[in-house]
Amino acid sequence: MRLLAIETSCDETAVALIQDRGRVEVSYVNSQVHLHRPFGGVVPEVASRAHQEWLPLLVKRALLESGREPSDLDGIAVTRGPGLIGALLVGVSFAKALSLGWGIPWIGINHLEGHLASLDLADPPFDPPYVALLVSGGHTEYLDVSEDWSIRYLGGTHDDAAGEAFDKVASILELGYPGGPAIEKAAREYSGGLHPFPRPMKGREGCDISFSGLKTAVLLAVQAEGGLPANGDTSRWAASFQQAAVEALTDKLQAAADMAGRNRIALVGGVAANGALRESVRALAKRRGWAHGVCPLKYCGDNAAMIGAAAFRALPRESWSPMELEADPRLSLCP
Ligand code: KG4
Ligand code: ZN
Repeated sequence: MRLLAIETSCDETAVALIQDRGRVEVSYVNSQVHLHRPFGGVVPEVASRAHQEWLPLLVKRALLESGREPSDLDGIAVTRGPGLIGALLVGVSFAKALSLGWGIPWIGINHLEGHLASLDLADPPFDPPYVALLVSGGHTEYLDVSEDWSIRYLGGTHDDAAGEAFDKVASILELGYPGGPAIEKAAREYSGGLHPFPRPMKGREGCDISFSGLKTAVLLAVQAEGGLPANGDTSRWAASFQQAAVEALTDKLQAAADMAGRNRIALVGGVAANGALRESVRALAKRRGWAHGVCPLKYCGDNAAMIGAAAFRALPRESWSPMELEADPRLSLCP
């Protein structure tokens, strides 16, 4: 079976062709970051307009470059939530229109299931059961994923998502947007002693986490030193924040796996691109003798291949979607 997959939930317009479980034929991600950078964050209206402009072109390119025809496709998978409603509507409406025009079925996919299914694109794929840390710009969740792909929420952030915290701290440190990669780059340039920031929710039972205290601690520490260094070198702050965030996320992953009684852990989502976090999760698995799966770097950020992979996971359990099914900006993972 071959699917056309579409992702337009936020600020990446993405299209993929994927066959069977994890054979990605083409995967294109058009980042809109340059459009949103002047505003310091994603502007929903700008995102929707860019999706509208780029999506038809990317679908055309996917077919042309793969040498496939619409008649080679068995269906269409599209993100239907959670995300920005205007952005989601572009993808869902386009998928429905193609479905009608080409006479093939479509299926609406939960974006977060897409991030989890990105582990199917690893070589070799990492199969459930496992406890996953899903970390992105909008989500920080510890999830217990069973062999039958049923998903149980174990804990998550009380306030900011991890990616959001990286973005906000990067803004405090004037490192630019998006903040995650900028913090990681700055941190890599630093090798001295670290500022002892608090570890969010350390010692508390369970696997809930919070980033607002850590974010404020960075702001207060910078102010206490009279502002940012005159030479513009904020790498000590970036490295100290990253270390605190990574340690807290990994400690809670350990707690989450213990809570669920699992000896398999996984890391997915945009923030899973962070080298220090990837290493920390690998080190945890090694310490505890656990199996681990880490999303391939190229599928950490939003992409359509993971949406196609999630459709292959969903289709044995669920049927194709009816035309009445709508985009849902607050679609939840664990109803
Ligand atoms: O999954 P994603 O592409 O979009 C959402 O679904 O939210 O995640 C985007 C988030 C942004 O907050 C970005 O700053 C963060 O992932 N991110 C990183 C890194 N690369 C992207 N955070 C830390 N380190 C990175 N290398
Ligand atoms: Zn995402």
